[in-house]
Amino acid sequence: MARRKIALIGAGQIGGTLALLAAQKELGDVVLVDIMEGVAKGKALDLQETRGIQSFDVSLTGGGTTDYSVIQGADVCIVTAGVPRKPGMSREDLLKVNLDAITKVAQGIKQYAPSAFVIVITNPLDSMVYAMYKVTGFPKNRVVGMAGVLDSARFQYFVGEAAGVSPQDVTALVMGGHGDDMVPLLRYSSVNGVPLTKLLDKAKLDAIVERTRKGGGDIVALLGTGSAFYAPAASAIAMAESFLRDKKRVLPCSALLEGQYGVKGLFVGVPVVIGAGGVERVLEVDLNDEERAMLAKSVESVKKSVAETKL
Ligand code: APR
Repeated sequence: MARRKIALIGAGQIGGTLALLAAQKELGDVVLVDIMEGVAKGKALDLQETRGIQSFDVSLTGGGTTDYSVIQGADVCIVTAGVPRKPGMSREDLLKVNLDAITKVAQGIKQYAPSAFVIVITNPLDSMVYAMYKVTGFPKNRVVGMAGVLDSARFQYFVGEAAGVSPQDVTALVMGGHGDDMVPLLRYSSVNGVPLTKLLDKAKLDAIVERTRKGGGDIVALLGTGSAFYAPAASAIAMAESFLRDKKRVLPCSALLEGQYGVKGLFVGVPVVIGAGGVERVLEVDLNDEERAMLAKSVESVKKSVAETKL
């Protein structure tokens, strides 16, 4: 069987890490595309030059955005094109700059990779994935945003660290928009079935919820320039792998809702099943009044951000 093809559009901090992880996992041949053509080509070549050491049998190539034909026939497109947040900048401040990038990228994907599964990472996530969906006109199962996996991974790590257990054994569910009012659901999180409240008191759990919400901003402040890239890349690779290997993993992602959770026509973070059919199912969990109110608040923020995209 021919190798699968993964197009990474945006070859910056996240794009480069995506390329490394995709190659190490041998998910398929990788093509990096960036408006800075040399960066895409340079990172591809740098990674090719590790093949004798790392022993992966996939090829990596790079190209610029004047010619999207290099992504021809890609099975998966992962989009990070745009600019990252600067210290003090909200994800929403990014909207105008990144909408322009996403629109151009979406046109390229529509033309050259019309059957691809598209994972959007560019922020503000929930409105950028909406723009991708609108401009490509792809079916809802083939456009998804990466946010919940990352937010949940941060939550897993913070719980693991505080409780003195492996983050791998922490199951976490963070729903809602990828903003400061995201909804970490403590009732649906556990340490391998052991309720979090058995291991951590309320004050500690509240602090973890708050730290999860501010997780992205904390990294931005520490780095001084740019935003998080290792954890976002690892999260998107988990989604791409579930699609390419038909793993049917249940992952929290930004998916189009059509009435689930009382939301219609918006991309919001919810648990979904990702398999060969893309986003195969949206899973609905029961929410209590408090959780519903938190989700409603988060959905309002997404609505506001989407309204600003004026598509
Ligand atoms: N087409 C292709 N590439 C583009 C375009 C475009 N229209 N506009 C910008 N780029 C490229 C930049 O040249 C840069 O190399 O996108 C890359 C973005 O990389 P970084 O600046 O390193 O940003 P990164 O940390 O990878 O984050 C990318 O993901 O998490 C979000 O908020 C983050 O929106 C940001 C995105």
